[in-house]
Amino acid sequence: MNRTGFSEHTKAHLTRLLEGLIFLRRNVGIKDKELAMAKNAELVELTNKYLIENYGRLPVAMVRGSGAKIWDADGKKYLDFFAGFGAGGVTGHCHPAVVSAVKAQADELLCCGNLFTNAPQVELARRITENAFGGKVFFCHSGAEANEAAIKLVRLAAGTGRYKIISFNDCFHGRTMGSLSLTPESFQKGFEPMLPGNVMVDYGDLDAVAEAVDDETAGVFVEPIQAEGGMNEPTVEFMQSLRAMCDEKNLLLVCDEVWTAPARTGKWFAHQHYGITPDIMTVAKAIGGGLPVAACVAGPKYADVLVPGTHGCTLGGNPLCAAAGAATMKLIEDENLLDRAEKLGGQIIKTIQEAKIPALRQVRGKGVMFGLQFDPAREAKPIMLACMDRGLLVCVAKNNVLRLAPPLTITEAELTAGMEILIDVLKR
Ligand SMILES: Cc1ncc(COP(=O)(O)O)c(C=O)c1O
Repeated sequence: MNRTGFSEHTKAHLTRLLEGLIFLRRNVGIKDKELAMAKNAELVELTNKYLIENYGRLPVAMVRGSGAKIWDADGKKYLDFFAGFGAGGVTGHCHPAVVSAVKAQADELLCCGNLFTNAPQVELARRITENAFGGKVFFCHSGAEANEAAIKLVRLAAGTGRYKIISFNDCFHGRTMGSLSLTPESFQKGFEPMLPGNVMVDYGDLDAVAEAVDDETAGVFVEPIQAEGGMNEPTVEFMQSLRAMCDEKNLLLVCDEVWTAPARTGKWFAHQHYGITPDIMTVAKAIGGGLPVAACVAGPKYADVLVPGTHGCTLGGNPLCAAAGAATMKLIEDENLLDRAEKLGGQIIKTIQEAKIPALRQVRGKGVMFGLQFDPAREAKPIMLACMDRGLLVCVAKNNVLRLAPPLTITEAELTAGMEILIDVLKR
């Protein structure tokens, strides 16, 4: 007998039974049974052997997620305020409503090709446009791809001779050649030449935008909050003046909402905080509830610019991913997650302010998407690693900026537990 009250024999039996159940659960859909049971070290070794190391991965393999929690292959549980760079989403891991929509769709139809339409993509497009600014949607799989579609749409709408796009320092629009051309030089090194004529100016500097515009300028790309660039927020005045300038100079205004939508900032789409309507909006990451869904949304004036033969994406809007997206949007509405984002965000700010953390310079963000900026000497990466050690995932947004993005479905108790770990780490 031991402290559990079970004999060693019974304990061994129960352990084997439990392992068998975990095995069965993890084995579903994975061909290599041994791989399904592998621990962190083994999976990391195989990752290093078979996957290109373009991410600088941490030595951990994730195997299961539920709501705000995620487990690694060694069985360690984390509270997830990292959200897979935002794509893990606003609805949390494996939300039952999303999972059941995916399962139901998987039994019906996975793919039909865009020569035909399908109900889930119609439903998702309806929910996006009705909650944004009308118009029509083009579906693809990633933020970069959605921005590629937007770049082409801008060029086509602007007409011959106008091709230049203005974007902002510290922005991030993606890694494909077009979206990379709008993203700072530090990401472009080695891949030059970029698309010609693009100009980057300081975020918030309207005079610099005005100076950059010439007869060949077609549009402006702006993030309503610069997520990868350090969680930078523009002023309402800047966004409204930018909108007015685009109208005056006949430029298309594109809002890249790949990080900020849907609902993460407490509005369906973050541009709604500034009382403006873009001509085009791009969304991706969280909108698929964990599956790859992205969209380029063209407002009514530009909804029919892309015609057959101008653009495409073979699997874009496939029924399976679109069903996940439609279920995610429905969930946000049904569970009133916009209000919940406001409420949770208020709690996070209050906790941070009351903690009086040394070296914390500023807290930025809206809804449940925050950047904590520290003194330059206090780097965010060691904080991220210390939190991870304690079972909390957070992310670095820039050298000394830490990003928090818990799901909107997180429970109050989980939020409190996560914030306690964070504050404790920050005070050490
Ligand atoms: C604002 C923004 N746009 C575009 C992208 C690119 O998205 P993806 O990695 O899905 O191509 C990102 C990625 O972080 C992003 O933050």
